[in-house]
Amino acid sequence: MKRKRKYKVRWNRVLVTLLIPVVFLFLLYFGVIKDYEQERLLKIGYSKEEIGKLREELSSSELKQLSDYSYLSFLTELVKLDDFQIEKLPAYIDYILELEEDYNLDNVVYLVNHNITHPYSEKLVNVVKNEYFIESRLDRYMQYDSDDVKTIITNVNSNLDYEFYTNIQKTDTSKGVLLLVNKYYQLDSDYYYGELVTMDKAYDNKSGSQLSSVAYEAFKNLVDDAEKEGYHIRNNSAYRSYSTQSGLYNSYKNSNGLTWADKWSARPGHSEHQTGLALDVGVKNEYSLGTFESSEEFVWMKDHAHLYGFILRYPKGKEYITGYGYEPWHYRYVGVDVATYIYENDITFEEYYAYFVENS
Ligand code: DAL
Ligand code: ZN
Repeated sequence: MKRKRKYKVRWNRVLVTLLIPVVFLFLLYFGVIKDYEQERLLKIGYSKEEIGKLREELSSSELKQLSDYSYLSFLTELVKLDDFQIEKLPAYIDYILELEEDYNLDNVVYLVNHNITHPYSEKLVNVVKNEYFIESRLDRYMQYDSDDVKTIITNVNSNLDYEFYTNIQKTDTSKGVLLLVNKYYQLDSDYYYGELVTMDKAYDNKSGSQLSSVAYEAFKNLVDDAEKEGYHIRNNSAYRSYSTQSGLYNSYKNSNGLTWADKWSARPGHSEHQTGLALDVGVKNEYSLGTFESSEEFVWMKDHAHLYGFILRYPKGKEYITGYGYEPWHYRYVGVDVATYIYENDITFEEYYAYFVENS
């Protein structure tokens, strides 16, 4: 026969056994850990006041990370900045510790937030903050020899840190009517945009000229509206095939030399005329390009072309960007919105393309 054993429950012991870990954890959390942090930070050199400020912004584990570094005098100011991002704390610290020159903390936060790792300089800050800054071109901006940030951005965005006809790439024709063809971007020899249509004699000083249909429709509207106001605008040269351009360029080169030819004529594959989206205009029955600028038709074109989607492609004063002399007669179709932006902001298509098209 089994004998039952009797246990006497000692409640006071149970209570004590349960309470010990709870009290331990309580002390550990509210006492030891926090005091320990403070001790460490005090030892590094922070004042109690600084530690108080840091605690307002940082969690325990973030505070703990600080003991990996020596005293950082900028820290209390850094953590208060509006753009401060807690997860970037080690990156800010590492970046600042590398610096030898004076810096502005807001700018450091701006650079690190934008993942810029180049050494701090006023030039770097101004370049990165420019509205037309393109991150993939940062090395090129920094290498560009100028103190004027606008010049640096404009010129690098337009590839002017490269010699014309160097670093040539194929035109990205997926950009549609916003494709760029210039001294750095080249078309395949059989390329033209969309559908080429033959122009009606009513719009053409020549006969049988062709233009891409989208540009032709816009040009017809332009000519019709100009006619209503008494201006007689016509095409003088529209689509030109690769071989036509080749013949033109070579004849210019042979008669006027390379420099002249390159100033006024695109090398084959580099002409907008090959796209079917560009044309040289003139007054009705006047074939000379050179006299167009002094016509009333030019005055009208200058301020109305954008309303039909055309831009003056090679403007005065922008020769160093476009690579061509000023051509008051040469217009390029880009669509009304883009043409209006370019007209109102007085920029070249090279600049527009770099800012808004290339990486879109
Ligand atoms: N005259 C322009 C630049 C061309 O030849 O396409
Ligand atoms: Zn032209």
